Amino acid sequence: QKDGYRFFMEKEIYEQSNVITDTLLGRLGTDDIIFEELDPELFNGINEIKLCACGTSYHAALSASYLFERYARVKTSVEIASEFRYREPIMTKDTLFVVISQSGETADTLETLKMAKNAGLKTLTICNVDNSSMVRLSDATILTRAGVEKGVASTKAFATQVTIFWMLSLHLAKLRSTMDNGEIIKQIELIRQIPGAVKVRDEIHEKIKRLSKRYLHGHGFFFIGRDIFYPLALEGALKLKEISYLHAEGYPSGEMKHGPIALADPELFTIALLPEHMLYEKSKSNVEELSARDSTICAISPLQFEKADDFIATKNHESYMLEFFEMMVVVQLLSLEVSIRLGNDVDMPRNLAKSVTVE
Ligand code: M6R
Repeated sequence: QKDGYRFFMEKEIYEQSNVITDTLLGRLGTDDIIFEELDPELFNGINEIKLCACGTSYHAALSASYLFERYARVKTSVEIASEFRYREPIMTKDTLFVVISQSGETADTLETLKMAKNAGLKTLTICNVDNSSMVRLSDATILTRAGVEKGVASTKAFATQVTIFWMLSLHLAKLRSTMDNGEIIKQIELIRQIPGAVKVRDEIHEKIKRLSKRYLHGHGFFFIGRDIFYPLALEGALKLKEISYLHAEGYPSGEMKHGPIALADPELFTIALLPEHMLYEKSKSNVEELSARDSTICAISPLQFEKADDFIATKNHESYMLEFFEMMVVVQLLSLEVSIRLGNDVDMPRNLAKSVTVE
């Protein structure tokens, strides 16, 4: 049932607040995160975390790497499953191998889990489907509670994956004593605010509907961001590609001058993620460089940005992570509205399947 929404994807974007609330349920203690499903032994002797996934789940994994290293000070690497499988990787037993998958059935990701098991590594699956192949195979599982996701373009699953990773980074920080209790308590309070941050605001949705009229004529799109906003930029670009069939690329803002800026012209739309609490000045100057070379700029930020051709005003949040979650909704809505204007089948985009169980 679409419950009055035009497409399942739209419904799923609007559901994010509720499914994140479900994902948090029973997991937020006063000064610790509670994962009852995890045996504390799982982290014994672990000096490194390797995350492996495909598509949107890979972007969630990339986001996790920023959080794990920042908060838990644990060395973290991220792998695209289809690459990892064939490149004769070195796997050491002090590595926790984590696969991330909405479906739990993606063939390449499943194969990497088998490789890790064969190499004797401890394994953890972050998954939305209980009893899926990955859940059955892995030593431990944390379930996201996104509910059934029907749109081929993943939205609410990604939202719950990043929520789990924020919590897991704090859980590890506590175990490894890399953050003091006061700081962990503060972060838990911020996590409680995620459901509010992802609630779709009418004025934002209306603004995006208006912008989509012009954006469907764009020749190309750059989504740019720094730090954890870089994986979000990748995710924004993937969403637009998948359902609008427009060429979009995600880039770290600081990389533009190393080549991509050569493409700048008025037909190139730059979607700039400009959070207040993460490298604002640096990101802003990267966007100014693109503006000076005539790219059309759409800035997503709580801070007014006079060089922007279009501006989507997000709220002033206390933390960059809450800004991340609100901006996630903005990029999801942008791809949704452009796709609807183009008359595409948003939920069943051409050439794609919900679950990729072939290699
Ligand atoms: O079920 P999985 O999370 O393992 O799926 C991985 C990708 O196939 C999936 O995220 C894909 O990229 C989505 N269509 C993205 O919207």
